[in-house]
Amino acid sequence: MHTINEQDILTYLLGVNDAELFERANDIKVQRFGDEIFLRAIIEFSNVCDKKCHYCGLRAPNGKTERYRMTKEDILDAAALATSEGAATIVLQSGDDFSYSTEDIGSLIQEIKSSHDVAVTLSLGDRGLDEYAYWHDCGADRCLLKLEVTNPRLYKRFRGGEDFSSRLHKIKFLQHLGYEVGSGVIVGLPDADLISTLRDILFITDLDLDMIAAGPFIPHPQTPLADMEHGCIDLSHRMTALLRILNPHANIPATSALGALDSDSQKLGLLRGCNVLMPSMTPERHRSDYTIYPGKNASNIDITDSLKLAKDMISALGLVPSSSKGFSRRNNVHE
Ligand code: 5AD
Ligand code: SF4
Repeated sequence: MHTINEQDILTYLLGVNDAELFERANDIKVQRFGDEIFLRAIIEFSNVCDKKCHYCGLRAPNGKTERYRMTKEDILDAAALATSEGAATIVLQSGDDFSYSTEDIGSLIQEIKSSHDVAVTLSLGDRGLDEYAYWHDCGADRCLLKLEVTNPRLYKRFRGGEDFSSRLHKIKFLQHLGYEVGSGVIVGLPDADLISTLRDILFITDLDLDMIAAGPFIPHPQTPLADMEHGCIDLSHRMTALLRILNPHANIPATSALGALDSDSQKLGLLRGCNVLMPSMTPERHRSDYTIYPGKNASNIDITDSLKLAKDMISALGLVPSSSKGFSRRNNVHE
């Protein structure tokens, strides 16, 4: 049940009453999640991608990206390091790289789940429905599959001809399988006006997701959108605050894209309804090649520092870095 109508949302989007909006979002976050901020360790194990998304530096036609694929052993080592540093969720993320077979991914999930007490999240893109079903049986807990923009025409344009309805179908199928499912949008893609932003918020809310991301667009120099403006930070904050109000139970990250534009804005997100940080735990030799957008991964930090920096950021705000797996709070039940 929506507790807010479209007119209210439009008013907020137009910049009226920001303080009230942010306070309300924070209150709801605190009611559901207390002062805890969940941490997700992301292992970006391959930057090879089959797709041609216009906004992303990993798009297949970008010949200037140094491509890498981590071996199974290296991925398992990174997961072991992340858990030894206290991460309770491992996110396995890659481009749409089909060189890892169904069984390769399945055995990664099984080995991580049997060796560590962690939740495993998959962020692998457009893999088959049967593969996602198999990986759920292997023990994967969550999936991330972004819509990026909910207008089918813009979706087709920005995702290089891909079909919106099949993506949507996949998200619903993942929910049906029993995964906790995350999706979200990029804020401020070219030609996304306030009405399409409003529709993104309502559309995403209707999906009843467990995790929702809305981070600002950052132009990448080796993409067709190189010369465009970056997404508005204030609008990103308003969007995540509205999403929090409409989706009290959902995990909502203060996105890395926000942090790449301005680290203070990422911190502010945690005081305006967001409750998750997703530090990259990709090994040092690869992390700077995971160039979705400029500033994605600071190259000169040790991966153990990555989690520590995230924890320090949380503590400095007077909040608590959580050691829990951080499931969504659908029934307002604390773990
Ligand atoms: N700016 C901001 N976010 C981006 N993403 C991809 N490219 C960009 C960009 N240029 C986001 C998408 C994708 C996630 C890995 O990063 O939401 O799903
Ligand atoms: Fe590939 Fe994802 Fe980048 Fe699209 S957003 S090009 S699918 S890595």
